[in-house]
Amino acid sequence: MKTTLITGASSGIGEAFARRLAAQGENVLLVARTEDKLASVCNELGRANDISAQYVAMDLAETDAAARLFEETKRRGLEVEMLINNAGFGSMGDFTAFDIERDMKMIDLNIKALVALTHYYLPQMRERKSGTIINVASTAAFQGVPYMAVYAATKAFVLSFSEALWDENRAYNVHVMALCPGVTQTNFFAAANTDKPPMRAMQTPEQVVDTALKGLKRGKSHIVSGWANYLTTETERLVPRWLVARIAGKAMRPKYGENR
Ligand SMILES: NC(=O)c1ccc[n+]([C@@H]2O[C@H](COP(=O)([O-])OP(=O)(O)OC[C@H]3O[C@@H](n4cnc5c(N)ncnc54)[C@H](OP(=O)(O)O)[C@@H]3O)[C@@H](O)[C@H]2O)c1
Repeated sequence: MKTTLITGASSGIGEAFARRLAAQGENVLLVARTEDKLASVCNELGRANDISAQYVAMDLAETDAAARLFEETKRRGLEVEMLINNAGFGSMGDFTAFDIERDMKMIDLNIKALVALTHYYLPQMRERKSGTIINVASTAAFQGVPYMAVYAATKAFVLSFSEALWDENRAYNVHVMALCPGVTQTNFFAAANTDKPPMRAMQTPEQVVDTALKGLKRGKSHIVSGWANYLTTETERLVPRWLVARIAGKAMRPKYGENR
């Protein structure tokens, strides 16, 4: 059975993807840690649409989680036609004050799980000459972001990785795209233990999903969600990288710096 696999689908952007794709008649497989939330979203989506909505509750930051998920989809007879690598989290603050275990977990989830899931599902898509992978990066991917150093670096990885695979897989009719949202109204900041987003949230998760679907139609290698975010990322390319980092540091220090 053809299915769209969405990681981090228990809230925010991932849940918005699940709702939109289910409404379009696509079967979905939702993955996150919070089982009761996944179960309730699946029940609702299955009832409201003529589709199959399934879930797997697991911590994708665990070693071998991606391999276990791949085996589970095989066991359920699911053909993953679209993979949305969306699960991720961030941290704000001075790098020296970060909990190293949390940083390592962030790298495990934002980078390692995303690479591993792509590794497992991409060959099948190439064989079938059809498939789509959306990797959720961020506008933070375009520059070093002081006081979000590790998070921004994980997203720079996601953007670079996705753009490379976009070209490698065009000949196989497999579309790989990085989705780059700016500040969006989700649980992201609460999960990062802050009540202070770097700026006012400019978009809803639904708007981010709209952008992603437009990007897919246009065959984009990456897409930035929101005009203001797009203009910012384009303007950054015209100024020296050190200056971009200095300006970002000036904006972030009062909220997340040592002497805030
Ligand atoms: N919101 C923003 O401003 C913003 C901006 C740019 C990019 N992004 C990116 O957008 C993506 C989605 O985030 P969001 O904004 O929608 O935040 P969110 O509401 O906090 O959603 C994060 C999702 O990831 C899941 N998740 C977290 N840790 C996990 C783990 N170890 N294993 C499996 N699932 C896990 C969470 O579910 P459980 O807790 O149930 O596991 C949740 O479903 C992330 O990659 C984020 O970096 C967000």
